Amino acid sequence: MLSLEEAKSCLESAGQSHLLQFWPELSEEEKGSFLLELSQLDLKGLKDHCEGAAQAAASPAASLDRDIEPVPPEFIGSVRRSDKNTLADWENEGLLQISENRVGVLLLAGGQGTRLGVRYPKGMYDVGLPSSKTLYQIQAERIHKIQELADLKHGSKCTVPWYIMTSEFTLDPTEKFFKENRYFGLEPSNVVMFEQRMIPAVTFDGKVILQSKGKLAMAPDGNGGLYRALVDNEVLQDMEKRGVEYLHVYCVDNILVKMADPAFIGFCVSKGADCGAKVVEKAYPTEPVGVVCRVGGVQQVVEYSEIQPETAERRGPGGELVFSAGNICNHFLTRAFLLEVAQKFEGQLKQHVALKKVPFVDRCGNQVKPTKSNGIKMEKFVFDVFPFSRHFVVFEVVREDEFSPLKNADGAALDTPTTARHSLLAQHCRWARAAGATLLDGQGNRVTGQDGPPAQCEISPLVSYFGEGLEPLLRGKTLPTPFLLDEKRAKELQDL
Ligand code: UTP
Repeated sequence: MLSLEEAKSCLESAGQSHLLQFWPELSEEEKGSFLLELSQLDLKGLKDHCEGAAQAAASPAASLDRDIEPVPPEFIGSVRRSDKNTLADWENEGLLQISENRVGVLLLAGGQGTRLGVRYPKGMYDVGLPSSKTLYQIQAERIHKIQELADLKHGSKCTVPWYIMTSEFTLDPTEKFFKENRYFGLEPSNVVMFEQRMIPAVTFDGKVILQSKGKLAMAPDGNGGLYRALVDNEVLQDMEKRGVEYLHVYCVDNILVKMADPAFIGFCVSKGADCGAKVVEKAYPTEPVGVVCRVGGVQQVVEYSEIQPETAERRGPGGELVFSAGNICNHFLTRAFLLEVAQKFEGQLKQHVALKKVPFVDRCGNQVKPTKSNGIKMEKFVFDVFPFSRHFVVFEVVREDEFSPLKNADGAALDTPTTARHSLLAQHCRWARAAGATLLDGQGNRVTGQDGPPAQCEISPLVSYFGEGLEPLLRGKTLPTPFLLDEKRAKELQDL
């Protein structure tokens, strides 16, 4: 740990002496923890970090309109445009890889979820399903099921390890939650939690923000902090030990996420890809999702803010959007590629500016909760490794089946607990009807799924992963809703 004198001199040379302004007012305990926090900072890089953040926030975003082009079709696989046999081949290949313990899943769960506005990790959120399951539980059950499907197909006993990247904000509550829930039936040694780094938030003139008199305003370094965290926490070695060659990386907030999706894994493996991205067709030109495309011949994700509206609105001969490959933060990465990123490219990852409202203590020592953005958080993004990939592919999937993120609190127009719940229930109603069931609403009327919110029909991932295996249970059945198909109910229906 640094001495006070050492901390003073480092902060002075980084132009950050203000951080010790309230030092004399701190208790001995506060002094101890503040010095510890300062000692853990990259003090050598602090000056560059602060100046870089201020400069980046002041510079206009580069316009990429001239050099942008879509990913050529030969590198794209599409669920909608592929025939049944091709899809089955990809799925079989994926299940084979899973059954041979070569596939792991990695959850990005270090975010602060400020827009949703809850004080606990987003994965612990219950969107109000009939089962009251949280996002973490739904995901754990999908892992169970995909292991079971691979085992059944290949007569093996396989494991899909679950790597979970957390941050200072989410590690302790996530660990506690998993312990309290006995890891939702998963083997604890196959759930590997690790922590990403934190970096200081900076004012527009390049000064680190004091959150309180003896504490810096720190934030996780973005989901692209993954690549440093993999090295810091020896996760790549863990993968090697287990024989995991392929990783499916995904965000915590997509309630429809198909973890270790065999079709996606199988497609990427059969194309010899080192990196792949799942996309959905953009809903409308101004939809605020990044687009997977090429810039100057190199694949990357371009944000809506980086192109002119005319570019976003460009349409092809059939009226389809030219830049329609909406990034849904579902990535395939090989261990070999991750190693290369760790060894050669991590330092070259782009830094993105996020302007945030950061609570701070002002010069007079008053605690202030700003009403407009006052701070810069620099973030790396997980998809910024795409340009370094040598065999990059894109897999287009159906939005209704795979993408419904929870970003905002109820009341917002999009991506709320209600929209997430409706997406899942609507999907399960479709599965039940496709399996031959008739669903009835509370008044005994047949539910058609045409209008209004979906019926309360929920199917546990322990019963079905993507709608499979439901026909023997549901064909010809008339089911009043709410209807919750869990393992117990499935057994009863089977015995009928
Ligand atoms: P978002 O960009 O949606 O951020 O993260 P968020 O933290 O969940 O929500 P807001 O912006 O504060 O409202 C997309 C995914 O990346 C993860 C999140 O946990 C989520 O799964 N993430 C984000 C990290 O793992 N680390 C980070 O530093 C940031």
